[in-house]
Amino acid sequence: MNIKELHSKIETRKAKLAVIGLGYVGLPVAGMFAEAGFDVLGIEIRPERVEKINAGKSPIEGEEPGLAELMARVAKTGKLHATSDYAELRQHDVILIDVETPVDETHVPRYEALRAALTSLAPVLQPGALVIIESTIAPGTMQNVVLPLLEKGSGRKVNEGFYLGNCPERVMPGKLLVNLRTLSRVVGGGSTETAETMCALYRYVVQADLDPADWITAELVKTVENAYRDVQIAFANEVALICEELGGNVWKVRELVNKSPYRQMHLPGAGVGGHCIPKDPWLLAYGVQGKAVPLRIIPSARAVNDGMPAHIVDLVQRALTKAGRSIAGSRILVLGYAYLENSDDTRNSPSEVLVDNLKQMGAEVVVHDPWVAEFNTDLWQKAQNSDAAVLMTAHSVYKTLDLAVLKQALRTPILVDGRHVVDETNARAAGLDYYCVGVSA
Ligand SMILES: NC(=O)c1ccc[n+]([C@@H]2O[C@H](COP(=O)([O-])OP(=O)(O)OC[C@H]3O[C@@H](n4cnc5c(N)ncnc54)[C@H](O)[C@@H]3O)[C@@H](O)[C@H]2O)c1
Repeated sequence: MNIKELHSKIETRKAKLAVIGLGYVGLPVAGMFAEAGFDVLGIEIRPERVEKINAGKSPIEGEEPGLAELMARVAKTGKLHATSDYAELRQHDVILIDVETPVDETHVPRYEALRAALTSLAPVLQPGALVIIESTIAPGTMQNVVLPLLEKGSGRKVNEGFYLGNCPERVMPGKLLVNLRTLSRVVGGGSTETAETMCALYRYVVQADLDPADWITAELVKTVENAYRDVQIAFANEVALICEELGGNVWKVRELVNKSPYRQMHLPGAGVGGHCIPKDPWLLAYGVQGKAVPLRIIPSARAVNDGMPAHIVDLVQRALTKAGRSIAGSRILVLGYAYLENSDDTRNSPSEVLVDNLKQMGAEVVVHDPWVAEFNTDLWQKAQNSDAAVLMTAHSVYKTLDLAVLKQALRTPILVDGRHVVDETNARAAGLDYYCVGVSA
């Protein structure tokens, strides 16, 4: 099969698709292509996920509009089938790869999942198939990691025996389906024809611009857009610390700064988490490792954002000292363990760092999170006899928290707001000693 034949197979929806890695990204992608009328095979190494997906259930617990219904529909039509067996891939025309791509403590990409997926795929790749990497990868990875693994494992050459592209996802948990449909995509092809064929495929699910490009451009755009966000958040966090020292209020300052033309200051907060923003700047940096590019802004931004949970510890310490207590021996209630509001995603969560720090300092820590099964037990019971409540995630339930009941339940009535979720006047009216990131106390 050549690229023209593959193109027309896609245009007639006869192409058989596969998605490797059915997590936050791969699952909705598989579901949407199945809904668009393609036969989709999902390859996932976690057997409990495979079982749930084949039973028409979404394994994602957070608030994810439309996903549970989509999973039920595509299971019913039989258009999506999941398995852990790579041998089932032999007949497939397009294979999308959506496995995790974290970095380690030294900020080096951990491509174990990506390598494993490619190594298992290559021997069963049918001639003329198209492989698309949707995972976020460091610039240069297509050329230096993906291509050699596929060529060696399949015994074929790119653009002759198979086709290769990358189309990084831009989704965010909580908005997976709407993001997939409405956000534009950079479509990196190993040739112009490959990029065109990829655009023909994505047109079935994406109702926004599809921008054809080459591999390196697609890799750069994805990692740059997330590094950009990290740097902007770090700037807001640094301004928050300045405001606390100088008797200001970062939330008011931000509002007024953004009235000035061309200023779009981001939101400060208790830290940055998830599987994208904390690691994609490191993927970008890794792309130029060993080259003569002095990286200053990107690592500094990471350091500022990684330091925010420790700053929240400082606020807790300050509040407890004023109340005649210390962190050691206090019981502290942490509100929110997921990194993002109304999500169950706890990867790289700032709350994890906060909890570890508080425990190391001798506190008893209790955690509540309505979306994380491990912590989803009675909030008020947890608040009983606590010496401070620390709000780390802007979950909807915390926005409507009964502050009078919270004050009643706490042993020491301290509320530290890491997300500017609670109105200061209301908190004080309820009798809480209120602290907020970016607000001088
Ligand atoms: N989570 C996000 O918001 C988001 C947004 C945009 C891009 N991305 C990128 O998309 C990629 C996937 O992220 P995610 O959040 O979906 O990760 P995830 O951990 O939720 O999903 C990855 C899935 O791949 C499976 N897997 C791992 N190795 C496998 C293998 N060899 N064969 C088959 N399945 C395998 C895992 O079990 C897991 O279910 C990453 O590169 C990430 O940076 C994530």
